Amino acid sequence: MLNFVGYISLIGLGMLGKQIVCEPSDTIDFFPNIKDNLTKLSWAHAVNDARYLEEVLSGDIMMIEADIILGTLIDDPSNLQPVMGHPPAQTSDISLQQFLQRINEFNTQTTVSKKGVKLDFKSIEVFEMSLHIIEKLYQEVSYPVWINADILPGPVNSQVKPVNASRFLRGAGPYSKTMLSTGWTTLYGGNIVEGTYTSEQLNEMVSTLMDNDVEQKVTFPVRAGIAANSKEGLIKLLKETSSKFDSTLTIWSSQGDFVNIDSLKKLILECGLNRIYLDVPKEVSDQLHLDS
Ligand SMILES: *[C@@H]1O[C@H](CO)[C@@H](O)[C@H](O)[C@H]1NC(C)=O
Repeated sequence: MLNFVGYISLIGLGMLGKQIVCEPSDTIDFFPNIKDNLTKLSWAHAVNDARYLEEVLSGDIMMIEADIILGTLIDDPSNLQPVMGHPPAQTSDISLQQFLQRINEFNTQTTVSKKGVKLDFKSIEVFEMSLHIIEKLYQEVSYPVWINADILPGPVNSQVKPVNASRFLRGAGPYSKTMLSTGWTTLYGGNIVEGTYTSEQLNEMVSTLMDNDVEQKVTFPVRAGIAANSKEGLIKLLKETSSKFDSTLTIWSSQGDFVNIDSLKKLILECGLNRIYLDVPKEVSDQLHLDS
């Protein structure tokens, strides 16, 4: 029999439930037509300035990928804050706060072509300074939110300092409905046209996620040119992590990176189109012919 205190706490719980206005959606629930073919999700990459953001919002792109650095706004040079930009940039014409506000506004007003976001944090400092912004975002939006950082050192002997893995995973932990995107630093492109994700690098990712009690869905961002040379390892990585993290790969590429298209296509088809997001320049996707 339920006593008075029991009733009160039930009512309390009910109200608590109603206070959650919304939370980010799962990517496939939000874009149901990509279900069996995640490569249908379309991307705008490095949307790090206000004008490009407007251009992307007015088009039919589904996911907005953008980088966040600790820097200043051009018209507010004394206020160090999370702003949109890719290192070595240190200034921007749009802050993370303004960027997300604009996307929220757009998504609330539009009835077609709503967008999701992938936020690529370039340092642990800027990520931790963004947590209160993420907290607010998390409670206000129903579109997909991906939180990305390169948390482990990767190919080919990249000297870029990874984002501190345990601090990043701890910070992102409470946001269980976001997609966690955890990758490796890379040094590739230009003269560097060879390299693979080694089994040590791949295994370290699995143990890092396990050791930090990750609960979210996870996608592994991998650089197309290097991923193309790492088929066996990446297939094994997905096998080991798919039941726990519903894991996927997000294949990305920088403009001008050398990519062995045949090998990349083999990787994609062997993993399956339901396990691969594809955020690559049009020159690369046009050559893949994933219909066959
Ligand atoms: C998967 O989606 C891509 C991108 O839209 C398309 O080119 C390809 O034909 C699709 N493949 C299948 C088998 O549906």
